[in-house]
Parts: sequence; C-alpha cells; structure tokens
Amino acid sequence: MTRKVGIIGLGHVGAAIAHSLTAQGAVDEFVFIDIDDNKVNAEALDFEDAMANLEFNANYVVNDWSALADADVVISSVGKIALQETITTDDRFVELQYNKLQIADISKKLVASEFKGILVVITNPVDVITTMYQHYTGFPKERVIGTGTLLDTARMHRAVGKALGVHPKSVSGYNVGEHGDSQFTAWSTVTVKDKPITSYDLPLSDLNDEVRIGGYTVYHGKKFTSYGIASAASRLTKAILTDSHEELPVSNFRPEYGVYVSYPVIVGREGVIDHVSLDLSSDEQTKLDTSAGFIRERYEEVIS
Ligand code: 2OP
Repeated sequence: MTRKVGIIGLGHVGAAIAHSLTAQGAVDEFVFIDIDDNKVNAEALDFEDAMANLEFNANYVVNDWSALADADVVISSVGKIALQETITTDDRFVELQYNKLQIADISKKLVASEFKGILVVITNPVDVITTMYQHYTGFPKERVIGTGTLLDTARMHRAVGKALGVHPKSVSGYNVGEHGDSQFTAWSTVTVKDKPITSYDLPLSDLNDEVRIGGYTVYHGKKFTSYGIASAASRLTKAILTDSHEELPVSNFRPEYGVYVSYPVIVGREGVIDHVSLDLSSDEQTKLDTSAGFIRERYEEVIS
C-alpha cells in the first residue's frame, strides 16, 4: 500500500518535514501544494536530484489537490511559521486574522479533494488554527491533530537532559496547554533515571522559562525555526502511517474546553485513538485551564 503524504506550504518547515520523511523512507509519494508555483516545482526537482544519493525512493506530485483523495496524511505548514522578533501570543493573533481566510480556503479545497486521512496542523498559533481547520472542514475531531506542545516537550527533554547529563530521550514527561506563552511543563509527569524530577536539585522555574522561549531563542539566531518542528511533525506523521499507538502530547480536541489543547493522547492510523489522564497537581490543573482559556478566547474572537 502506497504511503502518501500531502504537504500544504513548502516553506522552511514544509521542506524540512519532506526531507525528514524522505530520508527516513517513511513515505512513498508526496503531494506538494504551494501558491508559489516556481518554488514548489523547484522543491520537487531538488528532491528528485537527491534520489541518486538517498537510501530510499519517493515520488513527488506538485499542486494537484485531487491527488490528496487517497493521501494517508495531509500536513498544513502554511502561513508565517517563522516567529517575529518580538512575537507574543497576541502578535500571533494578528497573524491569525490573516490566516483565517487562508485556512477557510484550504479547508474548502481539502474537502473538495475528498481527502479521508488525518490532517496534521503546524501553522501557528497552532491550537487555534487546528480548531479552525476542524470547524471549516467538518472532519471528525479525532482526524485533526496539531503538533502543539510535542515540540515544547522535546525542548524540555533537551533542557533537562543537558542539566542532568542524559539524552533527551531519557527524560519523560510533558509540556501541556497552548503552544505559546501560556504553555508549561507539568513537572509532576517528568522523571529521569526512574526518579521524579523533584528529587534533583534543578531550577525548575528557570527551566520552564527556557523551554517556553525555546522557539524565540532559535529564531533570534536563524530568523525561523525548522528542524525541531519538522522532527516533531515527522514523528507524529509516522505514528499515524505505522498505526503505532504512541502516546504523544499533541493538540487534540478537548470537550471540556471546546477547543484544541495540547495534552497526551494515543495516536494511530485513525488519528487520536485513545485518551490519557494525567494525575496533575491542582496548580498544574489551574495552569492548564488558564492556558486553554487563552486558546478559547482567541478562537472565539477570530471565528466570530
Ligand atoms: C516553534 O516553536 C515554529 O512554533 C514553532 O519553533
């Protein structure tokens, strides 16, 4: 069975995702969609130039919406993913107004293409945009997933791992809430070497801040972020393609808030296939409610 992935928006992030999935041999056919015809054709040709030296083959279809009908996953990486210099969550909201028309238009084309797979959303502010995509497409909620704090959780694993001298993969636990200023590390979920993080002498509040501004830190050096978000999106896409039933902290529809918020769920071929219940402290639950409230506030303002 051909493993087929559509990528809408071939900017830095979209191209990095395509390269990550191509190099891992995770996808047999890509459908690249972008409003810049020259750019997207150049990206496809550049990938075809890579084939002679890559271990795995992949084919690339360009700007053909009908080719999405049998895609397993479509990834939305459109919009100004790059973080502005002084970006705050409110700046993202202004950008959101710009994105609104774009998302409605893409949603209409996606529905018309008869796509029946899983929609993975990266476009920022990702939790609000994911909620918008589900609203405009009418796809079942479990078939629309945002990368959310999967990337922030990776940043937390990197920061804690560095502080304790272990690989990021040897740190467990999650960042949850909005992929934005109000996200936080649920330290009650974090363990290293099978010990709770609180048993180590670490400045947890400082680490939380370092993680929260992680994207801005990368931005200040390269004017966009790409490999971190691309790796997170690739991992989520592979979990869907392989029906892995992996537990991932991604932006999923939370009925208690009425919007998409990042919280761990089990991911497989059908999207969100099962739920997880974290034993958060009361302080953490309050932070999660507050963060979800920001998403809802912003969503209601822009969708009205
Ligand atoms: C980041 O935080 C682009 O939102 C993404 O790197």
